[in-house]
Amino acid sequence: MTVTSLPPDLRLDYQPKLVGPFPGSIGLIACGGITEHHLESYRRLGYPVRWLCDIDLSKAQLRQSQYFPEARATSDYREVLADDRVTIVDVATHPESRDAILAEALEAGKHVLSQKPFVQDLAVGAALVELARRSGCHLAVNQNARWAPHFSYARRAVSAGLLGHLNSIRFQLNWDHTWTRDTPFAQIHHLMLYDFAIHWFDLIVALMPGRPWRSVHATLAQTRLQNMLPPLLAQVTIEFDDAQASLCLDGDTPFLPLNQTYLGGSEGSVHSYGPDYSQQTMVIANHSGQFTVPLEGGWFPDGFGGAMTELANSILEEREPEHSAAGNLISLGLCFAAMRSADTGVAVRAG
Ligand SMILES: NC(=O)c1ccc[n+]([C@@H]2O[C@H](COP(=O)([O-])OP(=O)(O)OC[C@H]3O[C@@H](n4cnc5c(N)ncnc54)[C@H](O)[C@@H]3O)[C@@H](O)[C@H]2O)c1
Repeated sequence: MTVTSLPPDLRLDYQPKLVGPFPGSIGLIACGGITEHHLESYRRLGYPVRWLCDIDLSKAQLRQSQYFPEARATSDYREVLADDRVTIVDVATHPESRDAILAEALEAGKHVLSQKPFVQDLAVGAALVELARRSGCHLAVNQNARWAPHFSYARRAVSAGLLGHLNSIRFQLNWDHTWTRDTPFAQIHHLMLYDFAIHWFDLIVALMPGRPWRSVHATLAQTRLQNMLPPLLAQVTIEFDDAQASLCLDGDTPFLPLNQTYLGGSEGSVHSYGPDYSQQTMVIANHSGQFTVPLEGGWFPDGFGGAMTELANSILEEREPEHSAAGNLISLGLCFAAMRSADTGVAVRAG
């Protein structure tokens, strides 16, 4: 039987909180579709946004009128970088047009939050990490899934040792991703494994700290009736020395959407499920029973606030952010290996 009140040892502080005054102000470069969630969360949290920039000025002006009327709007990101009062640059372009902006922002001495997927090439990512180190700036990747309430609780449960030894991570997602048909996303062959699944590869890496994956096998398929080019079905299995992870994606599910996560550990298990990312029911079970975790908020937009809060805290506390770009290269390495496996039809071994 599942009990609704959580015992004290299972109550975890999974909601990120700013540890001091917000360090300076934010300049947002690119005001596309996803930035409504960036800005909604920053507004709710009271974080100062000073600039809104998009090469299409009307998009920057739209976000200005919707969220931060007092911010300035521009079509030239160099104006943002030239402003000494901007301390954090939030870059939300697509990856193809992002590397140069990230480099210029770091050279201008700004801390940077890059949208995902961080880079298309690990060598470029490593060079950006090195540039950040030389510039004394923090470079983080907006892997906001980490602060989706159910994933944030699950990460804290694992790091607190509540599940004992984590044996398995299972993700299953059935949803309708065909909304991307007439967008730039439909040009990405690995829409599923690269653009989409990077959040789940990153979660797997975050849930298995210090436990390197050994091999990955992935397959892709088109559904019979899908009306866009990138395959919308993907399956990935990942081997660790003493654990397994799997990811089953069906992005062409018009009916009965399902979004679920199961973590199986030697001392406890976590099961989170629901129709989408933000409506999740979460259960944790251990030797003392089975309990519902009362989750507050949802991935959209709270995960975005979490990613910015963690970057701000890392600046205030002068430490690496949990979602550092350096760490993200491991997540991307796993993602690229899965893509290679899908392209070649064979499992890819680490290294
Ligand atoms: N959960 C998530 O974190 C999440 C969800 C969706 C998308 N994304 C990521 O966010 C990124 C953007 O996605 P989107 O849906 O907002 O795309 P979009 O196509 O709606 O927006 C991209 C914007 O970038 C602008 N742009 C391009 N070059 C620019 C430049 N040099 N200076 C200023 N603006 C520039 C474009 O004009 C456009 O408005 C992608 O990498 C995507 O994978 C993340």
